[in-house]
Amino acid sequence: MIDFKKEISKLVSNQVESLSHGEVEELIEIPPNYNMGDYAMPCFKLAKAFRKSPNVIANEIVEDLKGNELFEKIENAGPYVNFFVNKEVFAQTVLEEIFTKKEKYGSQNIGQNQNVVIDYSAPNIAKPFHVGHLRSTVIGNSLYKIYEFLGYNSVGVNHLGDWGTQFGKMICAYKKWGNDEEIEKEPIKTLHYLYVKFHDEAEKKPELEDEGRLWFKKLEEGDEEAIKLWKWFADLSLREFNRIYDLLKVKFDHYTGESFYNDKMDRVVEMIKEKGILKESEGAYIVNLEKYDMPPCLIIKKDGTTIYATRDITAAIYRKDTFNFAKCLYLTDYSQNLHFAQWMKVIELMGFDWANQLEHAPFGRVSTEQGRLQTRKGNVILLDELLDKAIEKAGSLIEEKNPNLKDKEEVARKVGIGAVIYNDLSNNKIKDIVFNWDRMLSFDGETGPYVQYAHARANSVLEKAQFDISADVDYSLLTNEDTVEVIRLLEGFPQVVVAAMEKNEPSLITRHITDLAQAFNKFYHECPILVDEEELKKARLLLVFAVKNTIKVGLGLLGIEAPEKM
Ligand code: ARG
Repeated sequence: MIDFKKEISKLVSNQVESLSHGEVEELIEIPPNYNMGDYAMPCFKLAKAFRKSPNVIANEIVEDLKGNELFEKIENAGPYVNFFVNKEVFAQTVLEEIFTKKEKYGSQNIGQNQNVVIDYSAPNIAKPFHVGHLRSTVIGNSLYKIYEFLGYNSVGVNHLGDWGTQFGKMICAYKKWGNDEEIEKEPIKTLHYLYVKFHDEAEKKPELEDEGRLWFKKLEEGDEEAIKLWKWFADLSLREFNRIYDLLKVKFDHYTGESFYNDKMDRVVEMIKEKGILKESEGAYIVNLEKYDMPPCLIIKKDGTTIYATRDITAAIYRKDTFNFAKCLYLTDYSQNLHFAQWMKVIELMGFDWANQLEHAPFGRVSTEQGRLQTRKGNVILLDELLDKAIEKAGSLIEEKNPNLKDKEEVARKVGIGAVIYNDLSNNKIKDIVFNWDRMLSFDGETGPYVQYAHARANSVLEKAQFDISADVDYSLLTNEDTVEVIRLLEGFPQVVVAAMEKNEPSLITRHITDLAQAFNKFYHECPILVDEEELKKARLLLVFAVKNTIKVGLGLLGIEAPEKM
């Protein structure tokens, strides 16, 4: 595909010997609107070297570049040289590229097979999988695909919250009030209920807390009964989590939860001690981070047990040893910013030069119109209920709009789940989001169904045409404004994918394919496709094919399926 920016740099740097390609490329801008050209090059920087005014230089460059066939017009506007790409060449280079690369359009080998570990989802055993975990799951899954698409080898890790004091409390609560039958029937709900009850009771009887702590200590020491119960809770919980992962079509390469590091922590604590940074403080062991304006990182509690941070430090070292990652990414909401900053600092203080390859990518919190979601108090939206509801709502929409659709149930799943995922990935991830069913599932506006529908519409045009798509078309027929707008968005897609990776921000892709879907709908209404003129039809069908292909690739990178019909 012709890279017009590079072409401009080549042209200009041939004219202006004192500047290299790279230097010129950095100067090139995209004008605020297309009346001012597709690219612009400001000449202020050149003024000094040439001892001429930028306006004069711009004028001279324009004169020198006259007659270049990549551009239909090169003109100067004051100190700027504005470049208008030749729309026919533009259409041809973009559409040929998409036609050749198809579902690989936008992929590159930037990563050269380096490993990127992505730590996402990580719900807590015996606790509800809430909308916050959903965000982590959905963002992590998308980044997984984006990194792979760009030539990295993604390693997906589910760092399940399956260890910690809460399991001591849980065991304690189970022994007091638990009922096996109820637990088997509705594991997470029941276990969560027990946990909430434990906290309520402990407010009246604080000695319960000690009992809970004792059970966790037993667990850490490998007590048979404690382990057996813990394992049972974990298995039951995973069964429920897997149902959610199946609905979302999310997979992990490793389910290495916090408990996986039990036998690996001693060595790590020893290493911290050897570095001379482990300090005793009121019976506990900490790493002092005062110098870095942070509270100390607790490593070992007074009762000798480890904590969340100890396990994260151990896990990071294990992952570096095992996967030799180029990057290890963590997806949680921003309420954990301090936790990650603290333990990552400890890794740095331990002298690991790869500390800067650890990256916490925080995201905003999710609320409903009723307010924030909380686990303790029990007022949570349970995620599987939420997903079921989305599918059900999508189902009734389909029933209303297209009752004769084949595979209605499967499409309802794709649309309902797609709407939920899109909602999570539609804004800059650090922003808080509010759940709103009607908005999410609407077919208009910035929603998953809207984009999926544009894809299905493109597909149905292609099906109706019964035509062998070819890239051998008359590209001069693809130069009107509505068409060019679509092609611009197609052309921009690969860069957006790279930006999404660099910023760990899938929403850039969401926004881009939403713009593409909108531009395509405009094109669809303004430019009849299945016309009698063979050449025009052929050219427009190629464009429709390119749109369908690119939306599908984009949705795929978000983890959203694209039904052929809706
Ligand atoms: N289980 C934690 C939670 O629910 C998230 C774990 C994130 N990953 C990590 N390595 N700390 O908040």
